Amino acid sequence: MLTNLFKTKTDPSPANGNSLQDGLDLTNIPCHVAMIMDGNGRWARAQGKPRTFGHSAGARALRRIVKYADSIGVKILTAYAFSTENWKRPVTEVDFIMKLLMEYLTKELDEFQKYQVRMRFIGTRDGLPEAVLKKMDAAVMQTKDNTGILLNIAINYGGQAEIVQAAREIARLAVDGELSPDQISKEVFEDHLYTRGLPAPDLLIRTGGDLRVSNFLLWQIAYAEMWTTPVFWPDFTPELFKQAVLSYQKRDRRFGGLTKKE
Ligand code: FPP
Repeated sequence: MLTNLFKTKTDPSPANGNSLQDGLDLTNIPCHVAMIMDGNGRWARAQGKPRTFGHSAGARALRRIVKYADSIGVKILTAYAFSTENWKRPVTEVDFIMKLLMEYLTKELDEFQKYQVRMRFIGTRDGLPEAVLKKMDAAVMQTKDNTGILLNIAINYGGQAEIVQAAREIARLAVDGELSPDQISKEVFEDHLYTRGLPAPDLLIRTGGDLRVSNFLLWQIAYAEMWTTPVFWPDFTPELFKQAVLSYQKRDRRFGGLTKKE
């Protein structure tokens, strides 16, 4: 039901005379785009800079993409900022990413209000520093009535852990007699994922050249169209985002069925 709230409704008029929108079918914009923003470290190293320099540039790239995605009518952007596996990185890099996130959530808020961006987070709160959690909660609260794009940041996120957690919650309901095993359906399961209430991603973008899913939205990407580029995330531009959407618009999404012609 909630899914209908996110149906793409786009005013086609901005297409006129704007090269970043030229050629796009504004009636077929992916409603939900998920992004694996990979390559920050390699981007920085290629310039002889510390990996953290790449993360700062990555945060700036995300800002540009949020604005552009909103301008073409994307309703939800889910960005993979920190995985449950990223704790394995050196503590200095982890601390830097946490600080960057806090800075992002502070500095960006005025802009978010201007562009009516709404914020949400997916992932587990366990293990995240209290100060980060406070900033996240404040950002959600302060943007909750905004009417523009939903920026959904995956932080301390792991797809397998998300599924295990959903199974655990459902098992508890069953043990308490609130749900019988026969009542467990796809919809019930989805109600226990972090993404509850959101439609599944239509398009999954991965930068940085690797061709893997990296434990991102394992359940939700079942029918997502994939688009990858060797470009490192800090160099990812609205023009490239547009290329991904153009590619999406050429796809024949069958969801396991047949095309209308067949
Ligand atoms: C991947 O690059 C990126 C990350 C692990 C997370 C950091 C993401 C950002 C800084 C962008 C958005 C930031 C915020 C604060 C919302 P990598 O380090 O894995 O690069 P590599 O594959 O070249 O090593």
